[in-house]
Amino acid sequence: MSEIKVIGALPGDHNLRNYKETYSTFSFTELARDFYGDAAGVNIAHRVLDDNIARGLGDRVALYFDADDRQESYTFNQLNEIVNRFANTLDKRGLQRGDRLALFLPRSPELYISFLGAAKKGIIVVPLFEAFMEDAVRERLQSSGARALVTITDLLPRVPRQNLPRLNTVFITGGMASDIDNVLDWHSEVAAASSVAHCCWLTREDPLFILYAAGADGRPKGLVHVHDIMLGLWNTAAWVHDLKEGDVYWCTADPGWITGIAYGFLAPWLHGVPVLVKGGRFDAASWCRVLEKYKVSVWYSAPTAWRMIIAAGPQVYGQYDLGSVRHLLSVGEPLTADVMQWCMDTFGIPVYDTWWMSETGMNMICNLRCLDIKLGSIGRPVPGIKAAVVDDAGNELPPYRVGNLAVQRGWPAMARDVWGEREKYEAYFKLDPWFISGDAAYMDEDGYFYFQGRVDGVINTAGERVGPWEVEEKLREHPAVQDAGVAGKPDKIRGEIIKAYIVLQPGYQWSEQLGEELRNYVKNGLAAHAAPREFAVKETIPKTPDGQVDRKALRGWVLELGG
Ligand code: PRX
Repeated sequence: MSEIKVIGALPGDHNLRNYKETYSTFSFTELARDFYGDAAGVNIAHRVLDDNIARGLGDRVALYFDADDRQESYTFNQLNEIVNRFANTLDKRGLQRGDRLALFLPRSPELYISFLGAAKKGIIVVPLFEAFMEDAVRERLQSSGARALVTITDLLPRVPRQNLPRLNTVFITGGMASDIDNVLDWHSEVAAASSVAHCCWLTREDPLFILYAAGADGRPKGLVHVHDIMLGLWNTAAWVHDLKEGDVYWCTADPGWITGIAYGFLAPWLHGVPVLVKGGRFDAASWCRVLEKYKVSVWYSAPTAWRMIIAAGPQVYGQYDLGSVRHLLSVGEPLTADVMQWCMDTFGIPVYDTWWMSETGMNMICNLRCLDIKLGSIGRPVPGIKAAVVDDAGNELPPYRVGNLAVQRGWPAMARDVWGEREKYEAYFKLDPWFISGDAAYMDEDGYFYFQGRVDGVINTAGERVGPWEVEEKLREHPAVQDAGVAGKPDKIRGEIIKAYIVLQPGYQWSEQLGEELRNYVKNGLAAHAAPREFAVKETIPKTPDGQVDRKALRGWVLELGG
């Protein structure tokens, strides 16, 4: 184990001041009593809108939206009004509690409004990352049985409506092409609806959204998150993100992924904190510009993004006043020393790592402002969470032994099901009461955890989770490919890149051109971020006795132990 360097706890008036004491006394059950009170029903949309308005925050800005061609801001009052209008539109179009509404949109105010409008009516949201191509979209819409969809004209060609008989209502935001049949104009529907809506009161266990997350050896899993997620988000936004009166919060993740939903808007809005959403693609200069322009005080992002800003150089980021940032948090991939150093130099503060997953719904193991940071460690379990490193039989391992990173069942934000595939959900708890994350880790004698990569071959490229199985299936569809196995190869900027090993069909020869064709084939079928950046031709793909791709062997190959 390398030499451990420590950054001391920050002095100051943090929301969480005494980790040890809080950890030993805190329980989510007690928090729930205060948080929900004796309300007969719950609804997260009501909580982030009507309840904030009732406590006097109606005129506070909830959302700053900044894209090249569009800059808008919405107060909680304005947001609530338009959310209500969309909720009433869904009613009018016959959607009911429990129905699924998919959102296939670039980051835009309509995405957040549609999410909350659906939630207010107990309709379950299915977020789709805007870079998904036809196969990925079909898969998720079919699996979730979505009845309705909000999208834009540019993305509609990727929605194979002929294969989706249940999908009978499609809303288009932002300009309708006149030649599209059978779609509704989101804006005119919303304008015609009342701005007062009845909230559908739900139980804490009612589904809020279904998020598809990559697995290692199968289709993506539709993780079902419920309204009770708000308890965990409210709490971690306070203790981990240290949100306070006067903050402006920016989480750079896309709302097609868990971070962009949970912390992109739900968690900060539970605290009535204004949120920045930046439209468009990543660009180092414009990211720094909005930090300055909106005086962002709490910034949640990912190492790959910071490495890209670092690569752009001080001639770019040095032009902006970044002095408003008082708290920095990182997620999704290992936080490397270069990023930590740059944050210390540029902002004068460390960056706090947060470990969690789509499945966990909230931050689980984190570096906290009231604790020392040990470089290279993801931190300690947040109060209310019991984490451990366990062996394959579920026995807790002593410090410094690498094993399965596991969390004891029972935190409020945990996914409650895999949509339509209960057995896949139960597989997470095969070592009950442990939820087995699929990550490897070890713990030190002070209870700090150290992430050691995935156990199961799931790839993490630029912080985005890609299932090797989906990519392999796509490659095998191509006439030149007989078999394929893909794995994450370590990369300085992106954490990992996707490397594909392929067996060619007889009669095909490898060429750069074929590589380009295969890359585009995956890009156009699944998504750009799922496309392999490197290829190697092999005689065979190693398999386990039950016929699955042998992920351990492929891992050896990408680490150049024979690949
Ligand atoms: O491997 C871990 C990695 O991201 C995986 C979860 O991916 P996803 O469900 O897309 O959620 C991403 C953001 C919550 C984990 O199994 N991961 C997450 N956080 C970290 C991380 N790897 C290293 N350090 C982290 N802080």
